[in-house]
Amino acid sequence: MRVYEGKAKRIVPLDEGKVIMEFKDDATAFNGGKKGEFKGKGSLNAQISAVLFRVLEERGVKTHFIGVAGDNRLIVERLRMYPLEVVVRNVVAGSLKKRLPLAEGTELAEPIVELYYKDDDLGDPMINRYHAKALGISEGEIDEMERIALKVNEILKEYFASRGVVLVDFKLEFGKNGRGEIVLGDEISPDTCRLWDARTKGSLDKDVFRFDRGDLMEAYGELYRRLVGDS
Ligand code: CDP
Repeated sequence: MRVYEGKAKRIVPLDEGKVIMEFKDDATAFNGGKKGEFKGKGSLNAQISAVLFRVLEERGVKTHFIGVAGDNRLIVERLRMYPLEVVVRNVVAGSLKKRLPLAEGTELAEPIVELYYKDDDLGDPMINRYHAKALGISEGEIDEMERIALKVNEILKEYFASRGVVLVDFKLEFGKNGRGEIVLGDEISPDTCRLWDARTKGSLDKDVFRFDRGDLMEAYGELYRRLVGDS
């Protein structure tokens, strides 16, 4: 297996079905249209992901997380990834405003789950189950990913709430491990979640970079402190 380099991470093969996931300091938004670099972002995202994967594992969610291997490196189980992004939403924000006539900040009565096909050239289009089937992904596999995504949502919503943070929406990616199980992969970090301070509704996530809302590292650092501090 070759080293794979994505926009925010590098995947380096290890032995026995394991890989190192190295988090970079690069930031991109709007499908690569906006770029930046923030010293220390990779480490914070790696450590935040590790905290959240541990929380999920403790509550019975199968993830690829094995351990931490340095400031910006995690050891994870090697997966064959689905070319999908599974987005879960609790509060109206981001692209949902272009789809439904609901104002930013409106709480949804039930979470919304969306599927996107990962393809930069196509601009990561939203797809449905029929499209997924045409890509060779069965209804059963989609059902399982949705079930896990909603469970992750319940666990993390409560976990963040106990730390004064609203889990607005987030993106997950899944893969199959060597035993054919569907497992949660990728990262869970302020790069892939929308997180608002419960009191001020200020962003503690990548929207700070997307919309120039202040100091990104300060926001990510504040989030990290909330997660690791006593609650
Ligand atoms: O954030 P944006 O307006 O581009 O898209 P969205 O559909 O509102 O994003 C929903 C959630 O998924 C946000 O928390 C994004 O940060 C996350 N997301 C992601 O991590 N990667 C993508 N390629 C697209 C969305």
